[in-house]
Amino acid sequence: MGQEQNIILIGFMGSGKTSVGVKLSYRLRLPGEDTDKLIERREGRSISEIFADDGEEYFRQLETELLGELIGRGGTRIYSVGGGTPVRGENRRLLKQLGQVVYLKVSPETVYERLKEDATRPLLQCPDPLDRIRQLMEERREAYEACADIIIEADQTEMEDIINRIAKERETRKLLVINGPN
Ligand code: S3P
Repeated sequence: MGQEQNIILIGFMGSGKTSVGVKLSYRLRLPGEDTDKLIERREGRSISEIFADDGEEYFRQLETELLGELIGRGGTRIYSVGGGTPVRGENRRLLKQLGQVVYLKVSPETVYERLKEDATRPLLQCPDPLDRIRQLMEERREAYEACADIIIEADQTEMEDIINRIAKERETRKLLVINGPN
């Protein structure tokens, strides 16, 4: 039951996973963790450096290994994961095993506005980032939806309402666990 109670935030880069994770962590009084940060700390270098030195596949492998390790951990936490994590089928299985998956869905335009000055997302350092965002989002849409327990239209919802919605779903789920599946 412990694993069931973790909350995992997924969604495209710039969908607000990190900010929602921090606010939710205060609200639910649960520790929050960001898998990108865990990888950076462990590797002693930034995501951009990892991509530049060893390539995307190497980073993807680190993501998969980390998810496997998190599943074995005790305690209950809120995790935010990288935007590309759910793309691998294996990761989708691991994410679902890790806990309740919340997908923060946003439009390509929102992502572009939020990240147009950002240099820390290697996949968006290209001549036409908006086009890249649209393309990647379309490629990933099914993967995100396939592993989500809850989908929140995050760019049309106030932060406070996002937090309330997730907190409420969590309460409902706890009751379901207490009362049993039937
Ligand atoms: C990526 C998203 C990033 C980071 C890496 C790759 C992606 O995380 O993992 O740059 O493939 O979408 P955020 O979603 O936290 O920006």
